[in-house]
Amino acid sequence: MIIPNDPFIGTHYIGREEVKAAKKVLKSKSLFRYQGPKLLYKTDEFESNMKKYLSVKYVLACSNGGSAIKLCCIANGVGPGDEVLMSPFTFIASANSVLACGAVPKFVDIDETMNINPDEIEKNIGPNTKAILVIHMQGQPCDMPKIMKIAKKNKLIVIEDTAQAFGAEINGKKAGTIGDCGAFSLQAGKTITSGEGGFLATNNKKIYEFAKMYHDNGGFRVGCNYPIWENKKTIFGENFKITELQSAIANEQLKKIDMILKHQKNNYNYLINKIDKEFYTIRPCVSNSKLVYSNIAFEFHTQNECNQFIKYMNTYGIGFNIYCNNLINQYDTFKYKTSWHNSKFPYNISKYQQTKCPKAESLFKRVAWFSLSASLKKKHLKYIIQKLEEYKNEF
Ligand SMILES: Cc1ncc(COP(=O)(O)O)c(C=O)c1O
Repeated sequence: MIIPNDPFIGTHYIGREEVKAAKKVLKSKSLFRYQGPKLLYKTDEFESNMKKYLSVKYVLACSNGGSAIKLCCIANGVGPGDEVLMSPFTFIASANSVLACGAVPKFVDIDETMNINPDEIEKNIGPNTKAILVIHMQGQPCDMPKIMKIAKKNKLIVIEDTAQAFGAEINGKKAGTIGDCGAFSLQAGKTITSGEGGFLATNNKKIYEFAKMYHDNGGFRVGCNYPIWENKKTIFGENFKITELQSAIANEQLKKIDMILKHQKNNYNYLINKIDKEFYTIRPCVSNSKLVYSNIAFEFHTQNECNQFIKYMNTYGIGFNIYCNNLINQYDTFKYKTSWHNSKFPYNISKYQQTKCPKAESLFKRVAWFSLSASLKKKHLKYIIQKLEEYKNEF
């Protein structure tokens, strides 16, 4: 049996509803959110529904998760000379978005939850630290109560990269709504999807308005009117707007969120309840958190043990793997301070310094991941459990 590592959670729920919604937008010939012959206001609808779901005051839909992070940074005044504390265990987009603002990341170690270690945040705060970019990795929320306390004490901005954790909660609050603002992704591998796309959530009107201007080429737009660039409010900006087609699809996906999360949790529990937890060390999570259950992760004592397990599972067609080949702080951009500009911007002004993250370096090589998605049927789960049991007995 072949059971590939399939991280495409929302993708599997694309059905008649999404097709119908997309068709309607195409028939309207109004794909641009602010104008068209028969505008359906699908982006407004998505933002309004998302506000309700997240219980926040403001949501701004945008082109992708990376642009949402950049908007969060910019709207909070993160820029050249600033340092942003973040974990190196993430997707490169988290750090690229910080660099794109002219700031630099300062990589801070993780703890056994594989998310940023709050104690390490405190140790790494320096004179240039402006913000903490918390990344809720692989559907699991960071320790937000601790992080918020540290941020408050040190007057730091908290931005939540919730690209991989839409639907997760901590203490009954949705991940991405606890800090100053949250960035979300609608890319194909996320809880809900429109292929590409993203959004920002905040309770702060100023942040929302600033982000809204920046994402619309810095223009000040009222309703669907043409933006104004001559009113002393405007800033320079970029085009990070979402399309009506994406919003229409994302809207239908959002209607399915409870069903998606329930299915994820059921699959996770089915597996977890049937494996030997003495032998398999499951990735721990912070208390009072609700996960997306987008994957199952086992920690092994050594890299060799982990590789041996992965090899065994792969031999039987089960796509366990390590998360990535390297931590992002080991990528060339940080090793060699590479940039699109020969001045080496922003490394040249923000004094980027490499930091050591021993726990992350050790853990990422010793943890085997397997994505859980709706493509997994009971027979697949049973097969995985059988192979996990056989591996345990063999080694
Ligand atoms: C942790 C994390 N942050 C940011 C992003 C960027 O999102 P997008 O691909 O929508 O730009 C991703 C995407 O995979 C991600 O996993």
